[in-house]
Amino acid sequence: MANILRLVVVVCGFCSSDVAFAGFTTRKLGPQPIWNSTVTDKLRQDLLLNYDKFARPAQHYNTTKVVFGLTIRHIELNEFKSTLVVHSWIRLSWKDEKLQWNSTNYGGLETLNLADHEIWQPDIFLYNSATSSGITHYGNVNCIVYEGGDVLWVPPAQFSVLCNLNLKYWPFDTQRCEMIFGSWTYNGDQIDIDPDNDGVKMELLIENSEWNIVDKSLKKNMKYYACCPSPYPDITIDLTLSRISPSYKALIVTPAFVVIILVLVNFWLPPQAGEKLILNGCTALIICLFMLYFTQKIPTMGTHTPLIVVVCT
Ligand SMILES: *[C@@H]1O[C@H](CO)[C@@H](O)[C@H](O)[C@H]1NC(C)=O
Ligand SMILES: *[C@@H]1O[C@H](CO)[C@@H](O)[C@H](O)[C@H]1NC(C)=O
Ligand SMILES: *[C@@H]1O[C@H](CO)[C@@H](O)[C@H](O)[C@H]1NC(C)=O
Repeated sequence: MANILRLVVVVCGFCSSDVAFAGFTTRKLGPQPIWNSTVTDKLRQDLLLNYDKFARPAQHYNTTKVVFGLTIRHIELNEFKSTLVVHSWIRLSWKDEKLQWNSTNYGGLETLNLADHEIWQPDIFLYNSATSSGITHYGNVNCIVYEGGDVLWVPPAQFSVLCNLNLKYWPFDTQRCEMIFGSWTYNGDQIDIDPDNDGVKMELLIENSEWNIVDKSLKKNMKYYACCPSPYPDITIDLTLSRISPSYKALIVTPAFVVIILVLVNFWLPPQAGEKLILNGCTALIICLFMLYFTQKIPTMGTHTPLIVVVCT
């Protein structure tokens, strides 16, 4: 009986060690997925192994050239806050020397889509931003990487720009707003920024009901500061907006004319007429209401009181 028991124990021990051995041999290369890895998987692993996304992907003595473009989708102007909000897509492309491969070694794979948090991006920001605290303007979208190491990134972006508004000719005014883009920390020897061929594109513009973009220009500036020998390049975009005023014509110009006619009628009345007092009272009331409407529509500004207000009072 004891012998049989010993035999069972030995056999079972042998079985279990055999099973364990078999399990070990299959697990020798680490856990294997049941799917075969694709060429894309392999390329991603090869490119991103030890990739440090915080290091500029070029030698420190080489310049990374960033090509910049903007597609404006929509604009909103806030007179009270003196800001222009620009909804846009920004086009940035640069060369990442660490993300190069030969497509013949990867089954003809020529482009790779990588998430924005996986690879380096230039820190191109809006200098005259009205939202200083939350400075990340860009949406989280993928980058497209091409075989030679060229990276294209087109994130949607919302910029809030500080604008110096001049409301003197309100409501027939035009405003100029400037957007200045540049690298926040790198100088021109490290990151050079250049406009692309299209510059500022407007094909996808969704019209604002109040403002028309009548002119746009894009130019590159090189700034030198006393502190450092390196240049600081930036891209300045100038937008000229004109107010679409037909609705204001009806709302403002017509009452203004009514007030003028009432004042003139005043002079046509004989000096002793009792109606003069009533008429003057009505005119004063209309002017007061009119001024109340203005305070609702336009901000109180130290300079540049709108001419229409000056004329009416
Ligand atoms: C994985 O590749 C092997 C060898 O090329 C093949 O035999 C197997 O069928 C593939 N498995 C799948 C799930 O495609
Ligand atoms: C980096 O700079 C060196 C020295 O100026 C130059 O020879 C080399 O071509 C540059 N490399 C790239 C990729 O521009
Ligand atoms: C890619 O590799 C193939 C074969 O190894 C070679 O013939 C070809 O010149 C390489 N292409 C580049 C751009 O290096």
